[in-house]
Amino acid sequence: MTIRILPTRREAARAAAEHVAAALAETPSLVLGLPTGRTAAALYRELVALHRQGRADFSQATTFNLDEFVGVAPSAPGSYRQFMERMLFRHVNLEPRRIYFLDGATADPEAECARYEAALAAAGGLDLVVLGLGTNGHIGFNEPGPSLRARTHRARLRVSTRRANRGLFGGDWTRVPEEGLTMGIGTVLQARRILVIATGRRKARAVAGLVQGPVTTRLPASFLQLHRHVDLVLDEAAAGSLPREASPPRTSAPQTWREPHRG
Ligand code: GLP
Repeated sequence: MTIRILPTRREAARAAAEHVAAALAETPSLVLGLPTGRTAAALYRELVALHRQGRADFSQATTFNLDEFVGVAPSAPGSYRQFMERMLFRHVNLEPRRIYFLDGATADPEAECARYEAALAAAGGLDLVVLGLGTNGHIGFNEPGPSLRARTHRARLRVSTRRANRGLFGGDWTRVPEEGLTMGIGTVLQARRILVIATGRRKARAVAGLVQGPVTTRLPASFLQLHRHVDLVLDEAAAGSLPREASPPRTSAPQTWREPHRG
């Protein structure tokens, strides 16, 4: 695991966007997993800026979003699909036929989840999955609990997650659906590379659990410790519960380095 700690939220978003742009430059036909949320929105703003500078070409890329709300149609204003349209899709040169999304309004969620896994397999699997982090350590809609599901599935959302998403539903968390469809933790761990971005003090506990905690279904992000290629991009606030001293590069332990303020 590598860990980069940047002074501010904005610089963390820029570093993560540059990471995605570099992956696109190296593999133009990148199969990319994408998150939603406020942290992701900041990352997409930087990615769109890089695209406008000619530094992020999506023309051959394929995207699979992590999750969607059950009962919410792709065209509904609160859907993650519409969030992605606003934040990224309409601003970059992705081919619409290479944008994959779970359909929250499906009549048959189980079949929809199976379709998604099959589409992912047909695309050759995820080259890079970008992840945000719930304050409770969730990934996608894989919430803490006594067990986790490996593959794409229908999931019940915690009240804290519904509250965190209230901005998409007019600020009223009770209007946020109680269920979502989400890639499973195994789907995520099968990606060849994982990039996690977390910013703000509220994420510090989840970040510490991700990096150093026991691998436990009580903190789904802790499962990322089982993956070989995880890059974590943080701001100082989200890194607040990690050891303060930068550790020297070691192969078996996370590498930490701090970047000077870029002004
Ligand atoms: C939602 C998404 C998660 C995301 C989380 C982080 O719950 N389903 O995939 O990680 O938001 O949100 P934020 O960045 O707004 O804290």
